Amino acid sequence: MFARSALTVAVVVAVAFVGGASAQEPNCARNYTVELGDTCDGIAAKTNTPTFQLETVNADKIDAACDNLALGEPLCLGIIGEDCDITHVVQPGDNCDSIAQEAKTTREILLANNPNVNAECTNIGVGEVLCTANEIIGNSTANAANEVFQ
Ligand SMILES: *[C@@H]1O[C@H](CO)[C@@H](O)[C@H](O)[C@H]1NC(C)=O
Ligand SMILES: *[C@@H]1O[C@H](CO)[C@@H](O)[C@H](O)[C@H]1NC(C)=O
Repeated sequence: MFARSALTVAVVVAVAFVGGASAQEPNCARNYTVELGDTCDGIAAKTNTPTFQLETVNADKIDAACDNLALGEPLCLGIIGEDCDITHVVQPGDNCDSIAQEAKTTREILLANNPNVNAECTNIGVGEVLCTANEIIGNSTANAANEVFQ
């Protein structure tokens, strides 16, 4: 029942995109079109995009719970110069130190590249996609996290 009504909503909303009404970001590094069954974590995992980056770049389209994705909707995966595409999908038992070690980066860089993760690293969730680049990507979202270390 729920799945069926969700699909109906998605199809109805998708009609709005057929006319190309929604403009893509001109400075988008990677475009994506929402497919049937997509979730934010699912799109993030299959495109090597941090979940937080996906939701931040598309903040005007995706709500906080990410339950309003529309079939055929164009999304931007990352902004040129700030696009992290080196990622890790959080597994049960992961913590920031183990993730950083496995990715050959540091906990500090991991936290700088994932400004949604708190300093204690207690708010990561299984299935969430994190940026595991070994250098700080871009500087818009990273700056907010850097201030924590000053
Ligand atoms: C993303 O889509 C926009 C609009 O169609 C286009 O201008 C841009 O070149 C695309 N970016 C890439 C990397 O394909
Ligand atoms: C870094 O941040 C500064 C100040 O907000 C901005 O002017 C600059 O364009 C940013 N550089 C990059 C590569 O994002």
